[in-house]
Amino acid sequence: MEGESYAQNRAKEMREMMKTYLVTGGAGFIGSNYIHYMFRKYGDSIRIINVDCLTYAGNLENLKGIEENPNYTFVKANICDSDSIRRIFAENEIDRVVHFAAESHVDRSIVNPEVFVQTNVLGTLVMLNAAKESWEQKDGTYKPDKRFLHVSTDEVYGSLPDGDGYFYETTPLDPHSPYSASKASSDMLVKSYVDTYKFPANITNCSNNYGPYQFPEKLIPLIINNALQGKKLPVYGDGKNVRDWLYVDDHAKAIDMVQEKGRLGERYNIGGHNEKQNIEIIHIILDTLKEMLPDADPRKRKISEDLITYVEDRKGHDRRYAIAPDKIKAEIGWEPETMFKDGIKKTIAWFFENEDWMKNVTSGDYQKYYDEMYHDRITE
Ligand code: NAD
Ligand code: DAU
Repeated sequence: MEGESYAQNRAKEMREMMKTYLVTGGAGFIGSNYIHYMFRKYGDSIRIINVDCLTYAGNLENLKGIEENPNYTFVKANICDSDSIRRIFAENEIDRVVHFAAESHVDRSIVNPEVFVQTNVLGTLVMLNAAKESWEQKDGTYKPDKRFLHVSTDEVYGSLPDGDGYFYETTPLDPHSPYSASKASSDMLVKSYVDTYKFPANITNCSNNYGPYQFPEKLIPLIINNALQGKKLPVYGDGKNVRDWLYVDDHAKAIDMVQEKGRLGERYNIGGHNEKQNIEIIHIILDTLKEMLPDADPRKRKISEDLITYVEDRKGHDRRYAIAPDKIKAEIGWEPETMFKDGIKKTIAWFFENEDWMKNVTSGDYQKYYDEMYHDRITE
């Protein structure tokens, strides 16, 4: 009996020590990979509450296998709905906020900027206020060991010229698209809470991610999906715009390390020194698909460089992004682990193994989106 009560006490202690994470946008691409990563890393020693309103980009299929975990809870709510968000804080002792939820696609922001301001700016304000209200003590200090991480992007820094320079944490914000302007605004709001209220937050600015569960409106999954169907591969402008690609698990690891080891109030850039022109990315995908598909697979015959189609450029298209990840390496010890040639193989293998996932997300509304975005650009 004594043994039992020891075990019970220990279980109680463990529950008290267990950190509770509030993840926003956990049904999206990076958020869902982050949740998988965190449960792989910490097992049942953490709890995660995932709040997501399931826009076109949110998909609970991304969390298959996680739903049965008793330490995981899904709450369907909009981050702009202050009552719902405050209720989550009132009902749970939240230790960590990891704020992914956003409208994330530049092309959509060019067509419809309003929702980007709503979610990315006002939604972030709601998250900041709810966390502050729940964590702040009477004397203006915060309950111990509470942390808010705002997941942002390298796009807030604007655009670099070909082959020259890097984005540092000290680079002035100079966003160009409605998407990046809304993210830069949210970064400024987080910074204002740090500066004004000493709010315990960090900002991370990451470069382009790729990997499993990425919605096929973004370059890499769109090209994989089109190539496998023998559909044209749309390249904006001259195809020489440069992005700095990072495998999504490396991003998840960086977020966790910043949250545990970062200096509060600081901004950290995350990137892999893996700059590539868009056209190079497309050639690598085509070569890798040909290498990985068996000769007998009928899809292999459809894959061809002839599918590459130069189309009208994105409006205000940023030329080049390149992150200097020196600070996160020096202060926190994070470095990217996945070489692009390995990451792209893992990504393609995942798409091969999850054909149903791709079929499900490209049925219905996706077709409408694709037609609207590309019908003036591509003639079949
Ligand atoms: P995503 O579009 O795949 O997912 C966004 C998620 O947020 C979806 O699940 C969606 O349902 C949810 N969401 C949107 N509006 C919401 C709202 N009002 N309330 C609640 N949930 C809402 O995005 P992603 O590519 O996973 O990006 C996640 C975050 O990382 C974003 O903040 C983005 O700016 C940032 N980021 C992305 C990249 C990248 O390459 N994808 C790189 C750097 C930073
Ligand atoms: O840099 C980080 C950002 O990366 C994130 O903040 C954004 O949320 C994320 O969407 C991504 O933005 P990009 O605009 O760089 O990603 P996208 O995949 O849309 O485009 C990558 C590049 O490929 C860009 O130069 C535009 C080009 N492109 C894209 C599509 C969809 C094409 O040439 N053809 C296409 O069909």
